[in-house]
Amino acid sequence: SQPRAYIAGAGASDRPPAFVFDIDGVLVRGNRVLDSAKRAFERLYKDGGQTPRYPVCFLTNGGGVTEEQKADELSSWLGVHVKENQVVLSHTPFKRLLPSLKGPVLVAGMGNVVEVAQHYGFKQLLTPLDVARADPSIAPFWKGRAGCAADSAKEGGQCPVKDLGYGSEEKSIKTVLVFKDPSDWYVDLQVITDICVGGGVIGKWKPEADADQAVKVYFSNPDLLFAGEYPAPRLGQGAFAAALRTLVREVTGRELNHEFMGKPNAAPYELAEQLLCDQAMELGLMDPQQYNAEQEETCPGTTEQAGAREHDSLGQSLSPFSAIYAVGDNPKADIAGALNARARGRPYVAMLVRTGVFSGERANDEEFPADVVVDDVDAAVQAALHRAR
Ligand code: G3P
Ligand code: MG
Repeated sequence: SQPRAYIAGAGASDRPPAFVFDIDGVLVRGNRVLDSAKRAFERLYKDGGQTPRYPVCFLTNGGGVTEEQKADELSSWLGVHVKENQVVLSHTPFKRLLPSLKGPVLVAGMGNVVEVAQHYGFKQLLTPLDVARADPSIAPFWKGRAGCAADSAKEGGQCPVKDLGYGSEEKSIKTVLVFKDPSDWYVDLQVITDICVGGGVIGKWKPEADADQAVKVYFSNPDLLFAGEYPAPRLGQGAFAAALRTLVREVTGRELNHEFMGKPNAAPYELAEQLLCDQAMELGLMDPQQYNAEQEETCPGTTEQAGAREHDSLGQSLSPFSAIYAVGDNPKADIAGALNARARGRPYVAMLVRTGVFSGERANDEEFPADVVVDDVDAAVQAALHRAR
């Protein structure tokens, strides 16, 4: 179908276009690959699916695996060769936290989140289930409790989880990283609440103190809803965050000390643009001199210099790309993220498809109106290529 809105400011240019694709609700629904996705990537790749015609990046609020594992999954889904350095997951920006973190870190979320965290270089890791297994009485309604050793005796109310060495101030847990949506919210909510209310010391329950502010929870993804296999949107990590924030507020009367890292926040877009720049070099669409200049001026990491950048006639900061077509299904994440990036002077064109969270006959999203609204990702790619000519 034809795009329902003109792509403003993305006219023909000597600079190549680039593409940023969301995954859930755009390329797949659960594990079901959309036919339009396969068609779109037949258009976008050449050399029998080995090489993208233009820089392509996948920017998802999904995760729970390494970027390499997701690239392999995308390759098999789309029938083209997707490389690790084309993928930004919800928790990819967590790598930036490494230098600043000290002491044990609680890692939450389903899937191989501990392996992913170790792969990133995080150490002294434990999970909510480690805590529940060490002292099942911490989560009395936990269905896995029956399989654990009898509740270990407590001396003077001290929680035996000190066996993990985390029941004391000097080894308290000041950082919680939610890498992925937890599957059993109850244990995660109970244990993370314990950590917050105890100021990082499991077994110390002091809601009246403001020790909870010493603990910071990082959520990799703020999505209240996302498009899975089920026809209606599903609760995402943003829903888990809302539950935890409510519990901590109810218990302590204070707001949870937290930060969201996923779309629509800037960090994943800055990482994506770095990957697009690197690909433009690899594809010979940018000469080394220009690349170095762009690295200084316009590629990510210099967004704070946005104001200092040269701007073209459209007021767009001089980017290596004529346009960055961002295709998504969730207005609050994908469209908001692209519009925020454009407000930072990046040449994003926000393209909304009807195969995910946004569906039905509405002309556009009211809160975060896209530049283009099309039926599916193949229509989006056709519209973009038509303007890039
Ligand atoms: O858990 C994944 C979901 O929150 C959204 O994924 O690919 O649509 O950003 P995606
Ligand atoms: Mg999506």
